[in-house]
Amino acid sequence: MSTTHVLAIIGATGQLGGAFAEVVTEESYSQLFPSVRILTRDASSYKAQYFQARSPNVQIVQCDLENEDSVNQALEGVDALVSVLGSAKDQVAKEMVLKALVKNRVKLYIPSEFGAERINFDFESAVFASKEAHLRAARVAGNGFMKVVAINVGHFMEDSSPGGIYGSVLGFDHANLTYTAVGSPNTPVTYVSVKDIARSTARIVQLSLDSSSSATVPNDVRIAGSVVSYQEVAQLAENITGKKIKVEILDLAEFRERMLKEKGWVMYFRYAMGKGWMDYSGHNERELVNPGQSLWKWKTMEDYLKEAFAEGKL
Ligand SMILES: NC(=O)c1ccc[n+]([C@@H]2O[C@H](COP(=O)([O-])OP(=O)(O)OC[C@H]3O[C@@H](n4cnc5c(N)ncnc54)[C@H](OP(=O)(O)O)[C@@H]3O)[C@@H](O)[C@H]2O)c1
Repeated sequence: MSTTHVLAIIGATGQLGGAFAEVVTEESYSQLFPSVRILTRDASSYKAQYFQARSPNVQIVQCDLENEDSVNQALEGVDALVSVLGSAKDQVAKEMVLKALVKNRVKLYIPSEFGAERINFDFESAVFASKEAHLRAARVAGNGFMKVVAINVGHFMEDSSPGGIYGSVLGFDHANLTYTAVGSPNTPVTYVSVKDIARSTARIVQLSLDSSSSATVPNDVRIAGSVVSYQEVAQLAENITGKKIKVEILDLAEFRERMLKEKGWVMYFRYAMGKGWMDYSGHNERELVNPGQSLWKWKTMEDYLKEAFAEGKL
């Protein structure tokens, strides 16, 4: 079997996709991925041009994800596709991508999951329904020739922690030095830095495409970067900033009633955290992708908070 692969990326101009494209165009991956095809709506964008210049292995392919011929052509000869489309992107594009994956007999598909594993979710959510339906459809359509791996990471550390863009809506009200957990403040929650998600994804692609390690990669992967409770985050932030942080709690059952009425991803995530559904400390693929931290050092919540403090975000 060939040890080099043609890798395609959708969403390489975005936040996580950009970090992933950085990793797979590093020197260490240049032999494994001599061809990295970046599918984009605008080949002339700054980000697309940046990756074009970054490595001779990169091909920028302008592509309309809602046009069947365009996607088919873009995925011709591809071994693996990593999609890092933003969450709300439309169903038509996903359906076209899936058709093209099947037509081109692509061996590996990583759909744009990169959030919370929904296995325990006991509520209806339009937010997650589209991801769920696409994942299921991909597994059915690719049965027998295409491995479909969902990568679950909990929260993007830089977005969802104190000082991050979603930190305050998720209960880290650092301006008022008050962190509010739903349910117990001691329930662990998983956070992974964007760079570590990108590195883990590259490793999942590598291991999945190699026939000697493919079976070690489960279809539903969990990455546990830093798993910490609200109480622990508050303690770390206190140590780093020297300011006392109050930890408050919201009753889990009352929160559920509110969530069912108000809906929205913030409510769903806060409830899932409170239920302990985003605690990946027990079972995860951390060692599979980075045995004994031999490939990189995982960023911890403490590392993140120190950085955020130094940057004036806390
Ligand atoms: N767990 C968490 O805390 C968390 C946080 C954030 C995101 N996520 C998940 O991570 C994944 C990636 O999110 P992201 O924030 O990195 O994405 P993003 O920055 O919004 O990037 C999305 C990319 O998709 C491409 N795209 C292709 N077709 C598009 C279309 N029709 N409309 C808009 N964009 C289109 C764009 O590339 P071109 O312009 O080059 O075509 C864009 O750069 C999603 O599944 C999201 O749910 C999880």
